Amino acid sequence: MRRNKIALIGGGQIGGVLAQLTALRQLGDVVLFDIVQDFPQGKALDLAEAAKIDGFDGRVTGTNDYSDITGADMVIITAGLPRKPGMSRDDLLVTNAKIMQNVAENVKQYAPDAIVIVISNPLDAMVTLFRKVSGFPHHKVIGQAGVLDSSRFATFIAWELGVSVKDINAMVLGGHGDTMVPLVRYANVNGIPVMELLERKYKDAAKAKEVMTAMVERTKMAGGEVVKLLKTGSAFYSPASAAIQMAEAILFDEKRVLPVCAYLNGEFNVSGYYVGVPAVLGANGIEKILELTLDAEEQALMDNSVKAVTELVADMERLGF
Ligand code: APR
Repeated sequence: MRRNKIALIGGGQIGGVLAQLTALRQLGDVVLFDIVQDFPQGKALDLAEAAKIDGFDGRVTGTNDYSDITGADMVIITAGLPRKPGMSRDDLLVTNAKIMQNVAENVKQYAPDAIVIVISNPLDAMVTLFRKVSGFPHHKVIGQAGVLDSSRFATFIAWELGVSVKDINAMVLGGHGDTMVPLVRYANVNGIPVMELLERKYKDAAKAKEVMTAMVERTKMAGGEVVKLLKTGSAFYSPASAAIQMAEAILFDEKRVLPVCAYLNGEFNVSGYYVGVPAVLGANGIEKILELTLDAEEQALMDNSVKAVTELVADMERLGF
């Protein structure tokens, strides 16, 4: 039985961390593709030379030739330009759409059976475009956003409550932009509602609400917060970790329930768009969308986020993609 072959398209900041995590967790052989000559070869060589120390057997190679991804089981795409300070994800639309079109044509040619995870921004548009150009089944093309946004939300809750982040369950739905929807009512610490713990901590419902609102807002702006500090790029450790969690769920057929950018066909009253929702991830990619009851306020936020996604996709289509 051969090892899994995992192609990483884009060998930049996120691509590099993805390669390292893939190797360390022994998920398979890594092929790191980038258009910059020698760059992915250099990263791959550096990483391969750590195998003795880290104790992994998977091969790590770098390439500028798409034919080297032939037969990949999984493709994770980070090709594109990251955000610069002050730039919105949507500003990246035209540049990254051209790149994504090219990537999709090549993945279709060389890895037609792969399950694909898209990370490039603006995420909801890029995953839509990849699906359209490749013609791959919808359940095999998945966007990474919700796992990261939810991890950020969980982190802020853990810091606020002074408890382990491992015990926080928190989910963010909707588009991967400023309209994303952190689900406050469902956020819990091993089953105990976070709002209840905040109310006990502050002994004041209004103050608890204020603290939660601040965490929700920080979650929505968390990508920008990192961009502002880094000045030379956008978040890369956490997006890579998020995609690896999704990849493991698929490669090991774990049936994990994760918030991912999935194609909706009537679920959540949305048809024909990729939106962040809870889904079961297993060997077939997205195996099921899990619907849940939203109250009127949550539904309004979700509707607003879906509207932003549809506008983004419409913008992309108007620009000829
Ligand atoms: N094909 C393949 N790779 C490409 C192409 C292309 N047509 N165009 C650019 N690239 C490569 C760049 O050479 C670069 O190495 O994509 C890589 C992107 O890496 P970084 O610039 O370091 O960006 P990164 O931080 O990894 O983010 C990648 O993910 O989260 C999103 O907003 C982020 O869209 C960005 C993407």
